[in-house]
Amino acid sequence: MDWQQRPRCDETAVWPRLVAHFRQRFAGPRAFDLRQAFAQDARRFERFSLEAPPLLADLSKQLLDEPAQQLLTELARECRVEAHRDAMLAGERINTSERRAVTHVHWRWVSGQGLAPVEQAPAAIKNVASVIPEAAAVQADMLAFAEAVRANPGITDVVNIGIGGSDLGPRLAVQALRAAGQTSGPRLHFVANMDGHELAELLPRLSADRTLFIIVSKTFGTAETLRNAQSARDWFLAQGGADVARHFVAVSANAAAARAFGAGRCFGFDEGVGGRFSLWSPVGLAIAIAIGRAGFQALLAGARALDRHFAEAPLARNLPVQLALLDLWCRNFLGLASRCVAPYHYGLRQLPAYLQQLEMESNGKRVDLGGRALTAASAAVTWGQAGSNGQHAFFQMLHQGSDVVPVEFVLVARCAHGLPGHHDKLLANALAQSRALMLGQAGDLPERHFPGNRPSTTLLLPELSPHSLGALLALYEHRAFVLGSLWGINSFDQWGVELGKRHAGAIEAALCGQPPGDELDGSTRGLLARLRGH
Ligand code: F6P
Repeated sequence: MDWQQRPRCDETAVWPRLVAHFRQRFAGPRAFDLRQAFAQDARRFERFSLEAPPLLADLSKQLLDEPAQQLLTELARECRVEAHRDAMLAGERINTSERRAVTHVHWRWVSGQGLAPVEQAPAAIKNVASVIPEAAAVQADMLAFAEAVRANPGITDVVNIGIGGSDLGPRLAVQALRAAGQTSGPRLHFVANMDGHELAELLPRLSADRTLFIIVSKTFGTAETLRNAQSARDWFLAQGGADVARHFVAVSANAAAARAFGAGRCFGFDEGVGGRFSLWSPVGLAIAIAIGRAGFQALLAGARALDRHFAEAPLARNLPVQLALLDLWCRNFLGLASRCVAPYHYGLRQLPAYLQQLEMESNGKRVDLGGRALTAASAAVTWGQAGSNGQHAFFQMLHQGSDVVPVEFVLVARCAHGLPGHHDKLLANALAQSRALMLGQAGDLPERHFPGNRPSTTLLLPELSPHSLGALLALYEHRAFVLGSLWGINSFDQWGVELGKRHAGAIEAALCGQPPGDELDGSTRGLLARLRGH
């Protein structure tokens, strides 16, 4: 296949030119300085900001100059990112280790309402109906079910039980849109952790005959989700609940297991939807219950706006491509091992956790598609917290710590609450932080010195709505894909999560009373003995 013959970033002709440019302009005592860059170029903001409506990204406070940006864009061209993108959009099996197509984008281009956005799709998005033939009908069913739940006064609470991608996307979207005043209908709750404290805290607040449980698991085999689902069902029966099938529905690619559990309905989806990319599929049922059919369609429309931009904008103005190139520049040239995400909106407080899975599960790999060890470092650590809370926690380290950490500020221009004097203060604080990181300050005492020249990106949304949230999350998805593509890795598998799961079985048996096997190491045996003694 065409897209398989792509060079890895460090094996391109442009890579040594990037290395040379980095050494000349970004290393040593005369290294690039943001303050000088702004002093020398009054149009730096215009030059380094990009738009993918409704989003704007300001990269002007990044340690980046135009030659570096041009060389990086050439890198994307030489790595044939566009061919790889088009292969994904055409439904080719780009997830090679699992021999699957990658279909989350396709789920945004079906409609259960008889509309056919696929007819207006960018040329690269092909075969939606043949890649995911069941999707239109399933999406229509799912949205009709969501509307029925919303209209049913007998259901006051809905509990989404799932973990990882079966939790993080729906949880983020519901939290975000609730804070933005866009949700209505029954109360929504999310339970993910196998730690029973989470479920135990929720159950006493529920009434069995008024609660709907949605068990979300692509595989229907994830230990956390099955444990929580079983406990919820036990609780439901113990409360006198009679009709499990009416009060438990499933979202899964494993309909047989969902039925065996007792779920009355199962909204299915295909194997090509990776967990961390799945909120557009029936995994978004909780979102649809929160914002209704029209809201869910607006979420998909926002994501489609970014799909179109990603598919059609030239590489030099393509926002996900340029953000991925910046990530690569920060990681492989500037040597920055982490990135802080600071959303300045209470509704987006879950964004760092969501991005941790999206970025680190996708690109935390050490071999390329051909199984060869990578020579360039892969995924940086994604971390962060909502602002302004983070300012009173770790921003000290961002300003004066020994490590330079690029910060990604996410700002929302308009707020949804009516409390005067809050939002302007919040936005001012975000802008002040990125300015202070860049400018620094000469101090009379060493401890009052701020080195400055510390990089940040600012992403700007006009307001928090289903449409803008859809665009933001699709932007992050495409960026993670492009970064993996440049590194030559498969962003769509996650073999690294398997090993720990396997060990857990043997350890649990030992914890529950079976004699520990000789294969257990001394530390684990010692800790087990202590735990069993309590
Ligand atoms: O943590 C591994 C993982 O497989 C994630 O990739 C996935 O999102 C999560 O577990 C949940 O998986 P499932 O939806 O199959 O329960």
